[in-house]
Amino acid sequence: MKKYKGILLAGGSGSRLYPLTQAVSKQLLPVYDKPMIYYPLATLMLFGINEILIISTPEDTICIKKLLGDGAQIGLELSYKVQNHPNGIAEAFILGADFIGDSSVCLILGDNVFYMGDQLNEFLSVTHENEGAVICGYHVPDPSRYAVLEFDKDDNALSIEEKPRKPKSNFAVVGLYFYTPDVVKKAKALKPSDRGELEITDLNKEYLNEGRIKILRMCRGTAWLDAGTPDSLMDAAQFVQLLEKRQGLKISCIEEIALNHGFIDHAQFLRLIRKYRDGSDYKKYLMKISEK
Ligand code: DAU
Repeated sequence: MKKYKGILLAGGSGSRLYPLTQAVSKQLLPVYDKPMIYYPLATLMLFGINEILIISTPEDTICIKKLLGDGAQIGLELSYKVQNHPNGIAEAFILGADFIGDSSVCLILGDNVFYMGDQLNEFLSVTHENEGAVICGYHVPDPSRYAVLEFDKDDNALSIEEKPRKPKSNFAVVGLYFYTPDVVKKAKALKPSDRGELEITDLNKEYLNEGRIKILRMCRGTAWLDAGTPDSLMDAAQFVQLLEKRQGLKISCIEEIALNHGFIDHAQFLRLIRKYRDGSDYKKYLMKISEK
């Protein structure tokens, strides 16, 4: 398997969620029973990624560190980098240049919630073969809120447009991107857009023009939610609540994933959950897992 490092971009001003985000980092707001950042972190873990750089604002980095520390408790190597100003998503590769080195890298946005089900295996094999960029399209009714893909009749990508007024398809580009190490050089060569940001879409267009981009369409039955507005935050919470209640299994429970995917052994799992405060359903769930 190709080894990826992960970058979790958890900065930004959270302006669309104001005043929820006036005193609290967006990525620490609850999505039902856990902080939002657990969801993208869990997605990276499901891809087998254990070296992760978390990029956030100066204030939010302190709180995220308090929550996740150096990650060793769940078998991760977490490091942190501050983004002083929201200069754009693609700046993650400039801030993360030393961290990336000559590795391939997966970037995930801190407000994106994924539920991939069986399609995870397809993701693993496509990203393993990656010779440039892999990005993912998801069918949505309101594509103008996102970057939008255009396909030819053979399903090859023709164009990617950031928040177009007249979208050329219903396929939005989700906040999960895989690149070869040359992404750093490409990010450094980007010019800020009209809104003053280094755009991830401009970066993806570079790979598209070079014919080095693979688009994965997420299947029906998978879920991609961005929790960046009051409505989408509520939708994400309700989605997680519904599935968890129906199945009695948690989504994006980082401790469970750490155990099941071999990031930590059973003894470490027990040490970890013993430290958690009694009284929460979350701890009760972890206790049950430990008895299986
Ligand atoms: O959610 C997918 C969409 O994410 C893509 O379809 C778009 O192409 C992409 O531009 C982005 O659009 P958004 O409008 O959702 O981006 P937003 O500015 O909300 O940033 C997404 C996350 O990244 C958010 O959690 C904040 C964080 N962020 C953003 C910027 C611009 C940073 O940490 N630093 C930044 O400089």
